[in-house]
Formats: sequence, C-alpha cells, structure tokens
Amino acid sequence: MLDEALFLLRPRSEGWVIDGTVGMGGHAEAMLEWTTDDVRVLGLDADPEALARARARLARFGARAVLHRGSFREIGGIARDHHISTARSVLLDLGVSSWQIEESGRGFSFAAPEPLDMRLNPDAPRTAADLVNRLPEAELARIISEYGDEPFARRIAARIVRHRPLRSTEDLVAAVRAAVPRARWPRRTHVATRAFQALRIAVNDELGALSEALPQVAALLAIGGRCGVISFHSGEDRIVKRTFRALASDAFALLEPSPLRPGADEVRANPRARSAKLRVVERLSR
Ligand SMILES: C[S@@+](CC[C@H](N)C(=O)[O-])C[C@H]1O[C@@H](n2cnc3c(N)ncnc32)[C@H](O)[C@@H]1O
Repeated sequence: MLDEALFLLRPRSEGWVIDGTVGMGGHAEAMLEWTTDDVRVLGLDADPEALARARARLARFGARAVLHRGSFREIGGIARDHHISTARSVLLDLGVSSWQIEESGRGFSFAAPEPLDMRLNPDAPRTAADLVNRLPEAELARIISEYGDEPFARRIAARIVRHRPLRSTEDLVAAVRAAVPRARWPRRTHVATRAFQALRIAVNDELGALSEALPQVAALLAIGGRCGVISFHSGEDRIVKRTFRALASDAFALLEPSPLRPGADEVRANPRARSAKLRVVERLSR
C-alpha cells in the first residue's frame, strides 16, 4: 500500500506535498526520495515525540522537508502559515504508528502494563483514564460499540463502571476479559483490541478531526492534485467515502470506485494492515 499510495500521490510537477500524518517520516522520506528538488514536503503530526523522530530522519533533505506540530484538523490554516496556497498532493495515513503502540508507553497497547493515557497530543484535555472513570455507562458503551465495532460494548461498559477506578492497561484488559464470554473471544486478535481502539479514537476525537480536515484538503488541492487517505476503521472509511463521493463532480474525480486494499503478502508481514483501505481523489478544475 505504501508503494501504491506514493505512486498515486507522487506529484508530476514542482510544488508542495502535505503529509498530514508524518509519524516517523517513512512516507515523507520515500516521497522526497522519489521526487526532484523542486518538490517539498510539509509534514504535520499531533505527537511531538513522533515529530522529533521524523525530524531526525528527514534532516538530510534540508529545506525540502518542513515539519510542524499540529493537528490535520487545522490543515488549511497551517498551510497558510507556511505560505502554501495549493498542494500537489495530500496524504493522511490515519491512526497510530507501530512505534506509538509498542514503545511510547502511553497505554495504546493491551500487551504492556502502562498508564491509560492514549493521547497523541500530550496537551489534549482528556486521557483514556478520564473517559473510563468519568463517563456515564451509556456513553462509554456507545463509544466502545461505535468506534470499536464491539458486540459486547454494553457488558464491557457495565464491568468498567463497577470496577472504577481503572488506572492501567491491565485494568482495562481485565474488565474486557471478564465481560466478554470466553467462547466469543476472537481467534486472531486480542479480546481487548476493539475496546482499546475505541477509547483511542474517542480520546483523540479522530473522527471529528478527519471530518473537519477533508473539506480543507479539497480546497487546498491544485488542479491535477490528489488526496489519498489510508484508513483502518469502518467509521473513518465511511467519512472518507462520503466526502469524496460528495466532491466527485466536474471539479473532482475518484481514482477508483472502491478502495484499494493491501495484498496477502503485506498483511502477512504486517497484520495491522489487514483492515487498511486507501481512497484517492483528484482535483480536475478550480
Ligand atoms: C499511521 S501513523 C503514520 C505513519 C507515517 N505515514 C510514517 O510513514 O511513519 C499516524 C500518525 O498520525 C498522527 N496523527 C493522528 N491523528 C492526527 C491528527 N489529527 N493530526 C496530526 N497527526 C495525527 C499520529 O500521531 C501518528 O504519528
């Protein structure tokens, strides 16, 4: 998918690429390697630690790589601050990186005992612990059901509320394990995967940020410019699909009617890619 995304989004003339989720800088690095000196990349990330890693990785590109800490929710204003009026391409590779899950220590993973934080932006107002310990049970159940597609959301929410306060990832895993009947534990994934994903999406208001960003991205695209979004969750993909379909007209065209999916080899090498979908839209006229 990386190669496909980069191939589809590689600018065919000079100008700006905006990587709205620069993360560790992997996509941005490949984009800079694949293009000539007249293509520059503005990379955004909400997570200052991820951005520091991207900065080190992209240092060799000098002024071609510009990095900015912020949310893609404000992508239009951030582009303006950098005097960028149009972009040749915009990439959003949603969610969290493997590094954040495995090494950030912020409680994104059920695999390690960590505090229940889950914030991408350390200055964001609410942690996952705040949500599980303070939200009404019905609201907690809605979040776990809607953002996690979890069939046992109500039972999990009830269990959480009965065992408050939850402080660590272990407490959350224990609540999910106790709430989901053993016979219904998924075979290929951890039983708490969906609840963890749901809380992370809620803590970071990931769907709200995406909904606000896409119209700004559309307004930024140059003629012939493309926007690609890689999503991992049905709620994200629904927002991308609806927005791109609504845009598709004389001014915009969808590159493919259905999303691109990773191949079997990629899923084997990286199981987290199994739910990834790439959708691309192109601006035809102003
Ligand atoms: C899947 S990773 C991107 C990996 C990146 N493409 C790479 O090659 O390393 C997603 C990144 O998006 C960031 N992110 C998520 N929501 C964001 C938002 N609203 N604004 C800016 N960055 C965000 C996360 O902090 C994370 O670093």
